[in-house]
Amino acid sequence: MTHQDKLQSAMGLADYYEPSPGGETAFSVVAPLVKFGPGSLAEIGTDAKTMGMRRVAVFTDATVAKLEPLALVLESLRKAGIDTGVYAETEIEPTDRSFLAGTAFAAEGRFDGFISVGGGSVMDTCKAANLYTTYPNDLLAYVNAPIGRAEPIPGPLKPHIACPTTFGTASECTGIAIFDLLEMKAKTGIASINLKPNLGILDPNNLKTLPKNVMAANGFDVFSHAIESITARPFTRRPAPSGSSKRPLSQGANPYSDVGCLEAIRRVGTNLVDAVNRPQNHHYESLMFASLLAGIGFGNAGCHVPHGMSYAVAGLVKDYQPAGWPIDHPMVPHGISVIVNSPAVFRFCASACPERHMAAADAMGADIRGASLADAGRLLADRVIEMMRQTDMPNGLSGVGYTAADLKALTDGAFPQKRVIDNAPREISWEDLHGMFEDALSYW
Ligand SMILES: NC(=O)c1ccc[n+]([C@@H]2O[C@H](COP(=O)([O-])OP(=O)(O)OC[C@H]3O[C@@H](n4cnc5c(N)ncnc54)[C@H](O)[C@@H]3O)[C@@H](O)[C@H]2O)c1
Ligand SMILES: [Fe+2]
Repeated sequence: MTHQDKLQSAMGLADYYEPSPGGETAFSVVAPLVKFGPGSLAEIGTDAKTMGMRRVAVFTDATVAKLEPLALVLESLRKAGIDTGVYAETEIEPTDRSFLAGTAFAAEGRFDGFISVGGGSVMDTCKAANLYTTYPNDLLAYVNAPIGRAEPIPGPLKPHIACPTTFGTASECTGIAIFDLLEMKAKTGIASINLKPNLGILDPNNLKTLPKNVMAANGFDVFSHAIESITARPFTRRPAPSGSSKRPLSQGANPYSDVGCLEAIRRVGTNLVDAVNRPQNHHYESLMFASLLAGIGFGNAGCHVPHGMSYAVAGLVKDYQPAGWPIDHPMVPHGISVIVNSPAVFRFCASACPERHMAAADAMGADIRGASLADAGRLLADRVIEMMRQTDMPNGLSGVGYTAADLKALTDGAFPQKRVIDNAPREISWEDLHGMFEDALSYW
């Protein structure tokens, strides 16, 4: 049996997409324009020139500003005769305050293009600066409802080339920019096709300097995007849209996303533990490619409960300060805020699509021989927990500073994240969500 046949039969592909009364019958595929390969970053001068850029804002952060990828980009732009202004003050896990600071820099420089060199924090801040200088408005105007007013972005932005120096967020492929709204202690974001960078350059060499914990957090973010995409509610169970322009970006699981996401899970399962503990060049290439596959997958399918829970876990942070991140305030990094919830979600949701959880457990490297489908969620959770331990991730919510006394606040924080919670393979009540947070308190 080929890998593809195995995938199709193991995941009950046809059954999962049974038509439903009044349900959606089509899915669309949004694919980003990307370039992938070691050394590809050095071509950026030519790429920027081809896109008509003459004076660009180069967004980065204080750590990446000292590393080779930024030097390479600036040298390549200089050789192409492109003028640059560098903004290195991006906050890690950006806030409304830092989105506005980045926008103020961009507004002063009168740039005709944007380049981001950094992780999700940098790429998202660059998207926001591009948006608010092109179509000035108050910050909440374009922010997702109910926190913001979700006004449509009026048109295309200035050209943006995104160059990730982490992997996982796939922000180079998505029309999403995420930030922390300080006064509400809530993670929220802006989502629009117009925010999608015009080109992503994925150079695996950029990952060579990643601290161990950032590598692990990124790897689990990739895994979560992939598993949430293949176990999302099938697109056929979403009510059909009233017109093709009303089809949402997050469509639910679909046959296109399935293919790349299962392969992304296989790559994470095979490579992540060694990439954290004994990194070699082939790990960088495989994991960055996995990030791209999962990024395109979740860009079309959408995430569900682990990400929905993560926004509360990150937003309500108490005193957790992770090793490996150069920060002086409490913060739960994105990949960690997601993976601490995931095993509890698999245990709860697997009964809705056990074949998919089993296929994922197999791809992740669990021994599924002789296992019954009823065990799929537990098998997948156990394998993820094993990998969390091998990569020194925190032990569930208690590992990032929460106790049973926080469960209500976490549930209240995550439950309104309708866009992602409704994308789960089964219906989730407030009590169900509370139960998953409780199960996520500790795993070992
Ligand atoms: N836009 C999206 O679609 C999307 C999706 C998921 C997450 N996010 C957001 O992205 C942010 C997280 O991004 P991230 O995980 O990529 O990390 P990050 O950008 O926050 O960076 C993490 C740390 O790694 C450092 N770093 C980055 N590249 C490095 C390198 N090559 N070598 C050494 N250090 C390096 C940074 O300076 C920082 O200290 C969060 O705000 C999250 O909410 C966005
Ligand atoms: Fe994520």
